[in-house]
Amino acid sequence: MDRDRDRANEAHQDHTAGEGIAADDNPADNTASDARGSRRQFLKRSIAAATGVAATSVWDASSAFAQEQEVPLPGPPDEIGDESYWEKVRAQFHLNPDTIYLNNGTLGLCPKPVTKAVFDGYVYLAETGSEGRYQLWDEVEESRKMAAGFLGASEKEIALTRNATEGLRFIVNGIRMEPGDEMLMTTDEHIAGYQPWNQRARRYGIRVNQVQIPSPPRDKQEVMDLFEQALTPKTKVIFFCHVTRGPGLLYPVRELCDMAREKGIVSAVDGAQTPGMNPVNLHEMGCDLFATSLHKWALTPSGTGCLYVREGFQDNFWPGSGGNGPWNDREQGMWHVGPHGTYERPVRAAIKTALNFLDSIGMDAIYARDRMLSDNLKERLLELPGVSLGTSRDHALSSPGITSFSVEGWDTSLLRGILEGKAGIILSRDQRRYHDLVRVSTHFYNTPAEIDRLIELLKEIL
Ligand SMILES: Cc1ncc(COP(=O)(O)O)c(C=O)c1O
Repeated sequence: MDRDRDRANEAHQDHTAGEGIAADDNPADNTASDARGSRRQFLKRSIAAATGVAATSVWDASSAFAQEQEVPLPGPPDEIGDESYWEKVRAQFHLNPDTIYLNNGTLGLCPKPVTKAVFDGYVYLAETGSEGRYQLWDEVEESRKMAAGFLGASEKEIALTRNATEGLRFIVNGIRMEPGDEMLMTTDEHIAGYQPWNQRARRYGIRVNQVQIPSPPRDKQEVMDLFEQALTPKTKVIFFCHVTRGPGLLYPVRELCDMAREKGIVSAVDGAQTPGMNPVNLHEMGCDLFATSLHKWALTPSGTGCLYVREGFQDNFWPGSGGNGPWNDREQGMWHVGPHGTYERPVRAAIKTALNFLDSIGMDAIYARDRMLSDNLKERLLELPGVSLGTSRDHALSSPGITSFSVEGWDTSLLRGILEGKAGIILSRDQRRYHDLVRVSTHFYNTPAEIDRLIELLKEIL
């Protein structure tokens, strides 16, 4: 995908329906960029002439979002346990000092360079209007390519979306199935995962089956066995989370996808809870489809996510709603999925700022810090009366950022309300048919002192 294609498609939109400028007919060559260059000069001159003011901000490369690097990146730690390093990292966030934020699983907090990039991007658009969009297109493309690398995918396999929910809709509506075909999901799916399947079942006559996986399971084999037993000869798709929302169970994705492929079954994964916390390598994981939000653990601006469609699966994929691109041009990879019309370019452009931020700390260090915090939290919770963990202590079965627990005789919403009211502790809960859990989700900007405070309060309350 390139900027000229973007321009071509916008030209297409600007024409009346049916006039039919095919995207590929539009010049994607040097002539076009030369023309843009002189148009920029023309714009500068004409604004200056019309207003008597030199139009320095129009097309000025140093303006607006180009300055995002002014907020220095943290760089990697010498030692994971060095709290003075993490204090400096924390200073890069806007966190309200009266709040203990333990709800990263719902929404991550953007670091300062990211909010600045979004702001600057909108200022730039306000300065340059429709012309500025083309500059921002390059920035968005950089974000998309960087996201592909971050997820271990190729550029042709990734489309940017607004969130996991949007990507999951594409997935559910994009897989070919006949009436009577079956799909298998777990009882722990997020509403964004099960709703579109239930809707498709009602409308098109497919059947949704469910398998219950305990929170936590004994081991990976238990998960594999339960899945395998729940398959039927009509199962065409399996769908599950990489990491579940509540218990934070880390699924054996590779093993499940291998099993599915051997049986000719499509594998689709809800990855909303992983990138930015767990390492994600989609090629190694082997799934056909993966949808995620980036605004949780990857700390990108709210309203950003990705959809992955494995290259070898793309001919089978028919998303219900296409982008503005040539839907039948497979060479353009995921172009046929999005974007949809005019969209929030400064927001998507800032994805790369967030990924750069994570990269400057290093994903290994982030993973180790997250593990340190959640291992500590799990141990301390188990010392409290009546507490049981819904999250495994086994690293092979748990994500490093999500720790869930229940307390005998306690309603989790009440407990959550007391914690928030007493000490401004923001956390979440996960109430399902088979469990009722308080969810604490910690990321690298949280501190051991915040965990101490949570434990102290729980002791007091219980
Ligand atoms: C497992 C899972 N899937 C999907 C979603 C939906 O994410 P979003 O609201 O970012 O689309 C969530 C959100 O918490 C989630 O935990």
